[in-house]
Amino acid sequence: MQERVRYDLMAPRPPEEGPIDLEAEVRGEGPIELDIGFGRGMSVFTRIEAAPDARVLGIEIKAKWATKVERRRARRELEGVTIWAADARSTLARSGPDGCVARVSVHFPDPWWKKRHTKRRVLQPAFLDTLARLMRPGGELFVQTDVPDRHDLYVRLAREHEAFEVLDDALADNPFGGVSNREKRAIEDGLPIHRLLARRR
Ligand SMILES: C[S@@+](CC[C@H](N)C(=O)[O-])C[C@H]1O[C@@H](n2cnc3c(N)ncnc32)[C@H](O)[C@@H]1O
Repeated sequence: MQERVRYDLMAPRPPEEGPIDLEAEVRGEGPIELDIGFGRGMSVFTRIEAAPDARVLGIEIKAKWATKVERRRARRELEGVTIWAADARSTLARSGPDGCVARVSVHFPDPWWKKRHTKRRVLQPAFLDTLARLMRPGGELFVQTDVPDRHDLYVRLAREHEAFEVLDDALADNPFGGVSNREKRAIEDGLPIHRLLARRR
């Protein structure tokens, strides 16, 4: 019988408890960028290729994906990428220092449609509060989805948040070159992609 792989035990994790110093914990020295819920990880690798001087922190709640993406990162000896298996919401809520994050990308988040799953969603006002605290003034928040209702919701949340200014709610292209697996698939399938770019005031 095939042995069950215990991704939960193998996955790369953030410090277990207490405050997290992103400046110290995230590999590299460039501006810190977050990729929230990177899934199979394409956006992490395409982003570091597009911005080799950045340091990208990818946070993915599924231990299996985080483990696989970390293996690929290590094989390629990418020093500008850090991968954590964690809930981005609670992890970033205890992270600092304030203003240390230059850019946040959230590609095709929240694949839950039932009302009772609303609590699982990443993009909620409390998470925007966390991002607003962590992002430096002028920092960019990029969110893309193929679900029009969700896009409307994300635009509304960003507009309603005093720390963010919506720069564009109908970008034709991904401005940062961090192409995600879902994005590639949507492009191949000819599905419209709805993109939002906001700036930390
Ligand atoms: C629809 S998938 C998109 C994956 C990838 N970003 C892409 O565009 O191909 C949403 C991803 O977000 C992850 N996710 C959901 N909630 C999360 C959370 N609280 N923290 C980190 N990742 C989360 C899911 O596990 C899943 O991999």
